[in-house]
Amino acid sequence: MAEIPLTRHPTSAEKAAAIRAAVRAVTFPANASRRLAREDDAPAFHDLIADPRVSGPVYTLPKPPTLEAADAFIKRHIEEHQRGEGLLIFEYDAAGAIGGYHDIQFWPEWAAAEIGGAIRPDRQSMGAGGAGAAAAFNWLFDAIGVDLICETAALDNIRTKKLLERLGFRFLGEIESELPDGGKRPSLYFELSRKEWATRRLSVP
Ligand SMILES: CC(C)(COP(=O)(O)OP(=O)(O)OC[C@H]1O[C@@H](n2cnc3c(N)ncnc32)[C@H](O)[C@@H]1OP(=O)(O)O)[C@@H](O)C(=O)NCCC(=O)NCCS
Repeated sequence: MAEIPLTRHPTSAEKAAAIRAAVRAVTFPANASRRLAREDDAPAFHDLIADPRVSGPVYTLPKPPTLEAADAFIKRHIEEHQRGEGLLIFEYDAAGAIGGYHDIQFWPEWAAAEIGGAIRPDRQSMGAGGAGAAAAFNWLFDAIGVDLICETAALDNIRTKKLLERLGFRFLGEIESELPDGGKRPSLYFELSRKEWATRRLSVP
């Protein structure tokens, strides 16, 4: 089982503390379509992840994606937010359903993050994933202050692979990702450093 990130450059205590503080301080305006997950979001989140076109490729989501598992997933992320180690962000549509989510893990000691997530099937393959990922990478480097982003994708997840390669991620090889139930899944593994993104972002619309 590979522990990620594979690249681990210890950062200073000050920088690690600043990343934790920045993660803890994340909030969204009250009227925004996007916001941090709350405990009462579990039914709406369950509606999203119950669809295998959403949860199937995502190794971090519970399988089976029951309501209880959705509730536990949200509660764990609320605790991670309080520690400055994780964020679960939901994008709501006008009808009050969740149209997509971002799940971000932080390793402040290595100034590193992993971002995962999914988009509801009726919104997939229309460019939202690529645009949202590029915006999230800008925010993670600029506002949160990480120096490295790592990503994994199921071996057959063509869309994620294409998106990451277009945005400049380096493919480091195949790893075995640890599943929430203790099993494992083969994954493609990618990394993007702050320096690489500084060059690449200039050519990303
Ligand atoms: C993966 C996911 C986030 C991508 O978002 P998206 O909005 O659907 O994808 P985009 O429209 O931005 O397309 C991403 C890339 O895949 C390509 N693509 C889109 N649909 C495709 C298809 N059916 N077949 C092959 N390539 C496709 C796009 O051309 C684009 O390539 P580019 O970056 O080289 O231009 C989204 O499909 C999703 O939520 N999938 C289910 C869950 C999942 O896989 N999450 C990621 C786990 S790591």
